[in-house]
Amino acid sequence: MELIYAQDNLSLGQIAARWVAREILVSPNLVLGLPTGSTPIGMYQYLARLAQEGLISFAQARTFNLDEYVGLTADHPQSYAYFMREHFWSKVDLPKGNVDIPRGDGSDLAAECHRYDEAIQRAGGIGVQILGLGLNGHIGFNEPSHNMEIHTHVVDLTPETILANTRFFLNSGEVPRQAVTMGVGSIMQADKILLLVSGESKRDILDKALYGSVSTEVPSSILQLHADLTVLTDIKL
Ligand code: F6R
Repeated sequence: MELIYAQDNLSLGQIAARWVAREILVSPNLVLGLPTGSTPIGMYQYLARLAQEGLISFAQARTFNLDEYVGLTADHPQSYAYFMREHFWSKVDLPKGNVDIPRGDGSDLAAECHRYDEAIQRAGGIGVQILGLGLNGHIGFNEPSHNMEIHTHVVDLTPETILANTRFFLNSGEVPRQAVTMGVGSIMQADKILLLVSGESKRDILDKALYGSVSTEVPSSILQLHADLTVLTDIKL
């Protein structure tokens, strides 16, 4: 594991963007796994700037998002598809056909989960997976549980995650209770993983994820078993 410290959230975004830019320069047809949430916003801003300045291009890249809320259409302002359009897809030269995100609004979610795993497999798997860290240790929406799901699946969000994500909605009643998430299998099969963690509130869970015992109760602890993990954080452990 490589641990990179950033001075603050702003420099975390810049360092993450430079890290991803280097990967794209080396492999223009990179398959990227992408997170949403507060943590990667700065990274997306800097990547967009680098792309707009012509220093990098996503024209040959492919992206797969980690997750989407069940029941929200792609044009719902709190959907992750909307987030990605706002922060990244519309700001870089990624062809429309090269982005994918699970749909949470269909009537057959099992078929959607299957389609998503097949699409990732057809693309050759994830080359670089970028992750955020949930306050309860989740990665994607793989929540603490007595087991871990390998494949893309529908998950019941824990009360902790619903509470944490209420900040994006008018009230907790509006937060969807379920999500479709990439499983731990696609994440762990990525060639490289970049975990982004920002803010004091995540100190304890980051410590458990990196140095605690590997357990399904702390899903991110499985990252300890990945052969090429980089952790970029503004928390001095
Ligand atoms: C979002 C995702 C989640 C977030 C995590 C941290 O696509 O996969 O695992 O990365 O909940 O969210 P923030 O960055 O908002 O603290």
